[in-house]
This record gives sequence, structure tokens and C-alpha cells, in this order.
Amino acid sequence: MIVPGAVWNDTSGKPIQAHGGGIVRYRDAWYWFGEDRSRDLQPGTLAARGYRSTDLVHWQDMGRALSMTEPEEWKSQYGNKWQLERPKVFVPKHPKAGAKFVMYVHLDAAYKAAEVGVAVSDKIEGPYRLVSHFRPLGQESRDIGQFVDDDGTNYLVFESRPTKGFFIAKLSDDAQTVAAQTAFILAPLEGGTVVHADGLYYAIGSHMTGWKPNPDVYATAKSIAGPWTEFKDIAPPEANTYGAQSSALVKVTSADKKHTAVIFVGDLWKPQSLWDSRYLWMPVTLENGAMHLPAPQPWTIDVRTASVTLGQGTAPAQ
Ligand code: GAL
Repeated sequence: MIVPGAVWNDTSGKPIQAHGGGIVRYRDAWYWFGEDRSRDLQPGTLAARGYRSTDLVHWQDMGRALSMTEPEEWKSQYGNKWQLERPKVFVPKHPKAGAKFVMYVHLDAAYKAAEVGVAVSDKIEGPYRLVSHFRPLGQESRDIGQFVDDDGTNYLVFESRPTKGFFIAKLSDDAQTVAAQTAFILAPLEGGTVVHADGLYYAIGSHMTGWKPNPDVYATAKSIAGPWTEFKDIAPPEANTYGAQSSALVKVTSADKKHTAVIFVGDLWKPQSLWDSRYLWMPVTLENGAMHLPAPQPWTIDVRTASVTLGQGTAPAQ
């Protein structure tokens, strides 16, 4: 059972530390990477952590995937005020022997450098090693999100304040560089991410209120390149996304490929005690091009059939 807002322990009984995270499918498992905000981090160190699951409910801790101290060149300019946020791991499009897994992070200093960091590893769980940091497409980049299309093409989603919008950018096949702009959406949204389901692309994001929740919104497009519709609320706006901020949308496809479920993966941030921030995962409904996030309640998923059961009742697979 997934219980939105409850403490979610890994299989060893420790609360999952994967905030602002992303979920990536690789071979027969899902991998959840996010910010490790545990209190036992060495001072001056920031980290990302990874977990593995075959049912999306039980998550095995794979340890710190990336552990870093502030890049040397920032220290004199910004002092000790840097950020490592929203890690996302990509599997190269055509993984060959020797291919590296690639982690993107929002790497920043006083939220002014506005860059992505790219880290690579021989193993999906890490350890990842930072190889570069830069502004993707030459643009300021803060919150990042990820999207993997059905053919394995990888996209980075990034918010870019001066443009008042966010970009969807295609990665190179090895995922190590941001290759090209695919879409620019003129909406200043954070926590942005995309899913492709029922023949439509859905982009979601939150407004800019830092760690305070606000009503998340979605838009749709027939092609990832757009045109994109106007944004609409994913839940009654007064609910403020039930306290959550979007981070990822996970598509689960049944073994017979006939059904899909889409899961909203959000953060219930606690800015004063980030390590105790919780998660709000709920399956969304998609109907006639509309995305709806139901009120949080315990639910289960059968990943083989992609069917979800909310509370006591059963929601049909899409
Ligand atoms: C949020 C953002 C988070 C974090 C936070 C800091 O808007 O989504 O990832 O950067 O602001 O205040």
C-alpha cells in the first residue's frame, strides 16, 4: 500500500531520502533517485540517493549515488552557499557495453549560477562522478525534470527564469550533453515534468512559491515539440495540490501493453526539517485529454496489469 504523506521506509526500515526525485525504468526494475537530506551528511556535503524496486511500493536503498562538496571555483565568489537539487538519472538511449549512466542535478550557488551538473557512473546505482556543469542551451536553469519517451529518447526539462518559461531539451544518445531545444513553453513553472500516455503528451509543473505548495497545472500536446495548450489545474485549486509540489510522472504499462497507469510523484516539503519531508504519490486519471489528481488516500498498484486500487474502491486502468 502507498500512503501519501506517511513516513515511507525503505526495505531496511529507514525513511526514504529521495526528495525532488525522478523514477527511471531499467531492465526489470524502477530506480528512484532524489535529494538525500539526511542529517548525518558531513557538513559541506550534499548528496543524491538511489532506491530500487520491482513493485513501486518496496524500495531497496542503494546508498548515496552522488556525494559532493562545493565546486572549488564557486567558493570565492559565493561562499559556502551552494545547492544540489532534483537529481535525475538517465539511461543512454542505446545502452552498449561500457555505456555510462548519467545523472543530471540542479547545481547552483546562492541560486545565482543556475546550472546543471552532469555526473556519470558505470553502474546505475552509482557512485556518480561529476564531469561537467553548465547552463543548458546557454540558458539559466534551476528546477529540472526528466522525460523518457517510449522510444528511449531522453529529455531534460528545465525552468529558466529570464525567459519566463521552461524548456524541454533533447539529450544526446549517450545522455551526457543537452543536444537541442525541443520545446519552449512560455509558463514560469517549476517542478516541471512530462509524460506520454493515451496518445498525448502531458506537461505539469508548479508555480513559483519556493517550498510552499500552490496549485499545480498541466498542459497537453500531440507532439513533444508542441504546440502546447494553455495550462489547467490538476486538482481543485484551493487544495494547493494537497500540499505537494510536482517532481515526476511515472507511466506504468501492463505486461500485455494494453493498459497504463500514470502516477503523480510529488514532494510534501518541510523547509525547516527537509529530512522529514514526505511524498505524495497518487495515480492520476486521464480522460479526454484532461489530467486529474484525486485527493490523497491509500492505494495499491499491480504493476503487471497496471491497475490501481484507491482506498476501498477500484479505479479502472486507463
Ligand atoms: C522550490 C524548488 C525547490 C527548491 C526550493 C528552494 O521552488 O522547486 O527545488 O529549489 O524552491 O526554495
